[in-house]
Amino acid sequence: MKKSRQDKALWGGRFAATPDKLVQEFTKSVQYDWRLYREDIFGSLAHARMLREIGVISSGEFAAIEKGLRQIFAEIEAGVFKWDAAREDVHMNIESALTARTPAGAKLHTGRSRNDQVATDMRLWIRHSIATDLALITGLQTALARLARKYQHIVIPGYTHLQRAQPVWFAHHLLAYVEMLARDFSRLEDAWQRADVLPLGSGALAGSTIPLKRERVAQLLGFSAVSQNSLDAVSDRDFILEYAAGGAILAVHLSRLAEDLVLWSTAEFGFIRIGDAFTTGSSLMPQKKNPDVAELARGKSGRVIGNLVALLTMLKGLPMTYNRDLQEDKERLFDTVDTVRQTLGVLAAMLADTQVNAAACERAVSDPLLLATDVADWLVNRGVPFRHAHEIVGQAVALSERRRIPLNKLPLTVWKKLHPVCDASLQKIFNVREALSRRKMTGAPGKKQVEEQLKRWEKILK
Ligand code: ARG
Repeated sequence: MKKSRQDKALWGGRFAATPDKLVQEFTKSVQYDWRLYREDIFGSLAHARMLREIGVISSGEFAAIEKGLRQIFAEIEAGVFKWDAAREDVHMNIESALTARTPAGAKLHTGRSRNDQVATDMRLWIRHSIATDLALITGLQTALARLARKYQHIVIPGYTHLQRAQPVWFAHHLLAYVEMLARDFSRLEDAWQRADVLPLGSGALAGSTIPLKRERVAQLLGFSAVSQNSLDAVSDRDFILEYAAGGAILAVHLSRLAEDLVLWSTAEFGFIRIGDAFTTGSSLMPQKKNPDVAELARGKSGRVIGNLVALLTMLKGLPMTYNRDLQEDKERLFDTVDTVRQTLGVLAAMLADTQVNAAACERAVSDPLLLATDVADWLVNRGVPFRHAHEIVGQAVALSERRRIPLNKLPLTVWKKLHPVCDASLQKIFNVREALSRRKMTGAPGKKQVEEQLKRWEKILK
């Protein structure tokens, strides 16, 4: 294959042939890494400005480079830029387009390698991306808090082992997810800090003999620090792992929320009714209304977890420093970001279009067995050791099952036989809302406590 003059400029004089078609197909990344164009151009502008300041390029050359890069940026934004698969990746595409416009373009790559360039682009991209994700997390938290406020009078059974356990406010259940999302938020914020370091100036792996001013580039790009070891800077992708891990944990939280929504929308639970716009029908069964959005929110967590595992695996056997394997980081990262964002957005919208069925919740929570633990606590307050109290209430539950009498309808004579301390006030235990008000400590679903938590979140989310 004959080489064009531009190929020569990019690949240098060492090659007598351009890559085989198969190789080109196999190695190119521009079909996905074009998404780094903004970061790539900003990075190049900062690098070029610094090159001018240290006298490597003239003011005229800088002006030509700046003009060219701005033009290219505008063309990409407008969707008219011609991406060339033969130019492998976003970096080569932009650089060769620039050089075709101005001979000064040939000076842009001075003291720079694609290795420190791509690491810089990825860090810039992640910083930008995290800012968007944080807003979306807040959006879902807001939707949860709104639903909690709207249905703050609703009580549902809380579950362990998916068996009814003790009553809780519906709001308390939703606020549990708000808490989980708050930790996801801070995990991504934390990942932001570590991504906020400039690798540019590390060269291919060993810096440069040209007296680059790295701190100046960091300042221009808004990085808080420059990397301290050139080998590390071009070779590690732990900042991507952190983002992918934070994304995977977030996706798992979203999946669990989705699972609750799927359960609650069944005829068996009937706690919620998801709006028609957020459900789908069946091609065969005319009566069906399926919670596909929630199911996909649950299902898509699989690929986000997979992305993290793929990235860890990609990295684990790499020798120092840059290896082409690292190019495989992008699709996994982009997929995590796209999937998590889409899921956050659609879940928030779905919650805004979800109704709670108060009657079904009331029916579920009227099961007196939910307050068996409260009866044991009542006995404890009258001096019965907890283990004995547990035993006594257990016997009462067995009796009520055998005689088919609800626990709250068990005659006082039966209770008295189980323990003499029992009296008529025991029956008062079985009021669900009063039972909730007895839970007064921080974090418990007491009425006042949940109201305080709701207020706290509403203030934070405002
Ligand atoms: N497309 C490459 C990547 O994403 C850019 C760096 C290429 N460096 C190299 N030495 N071939 O990793």
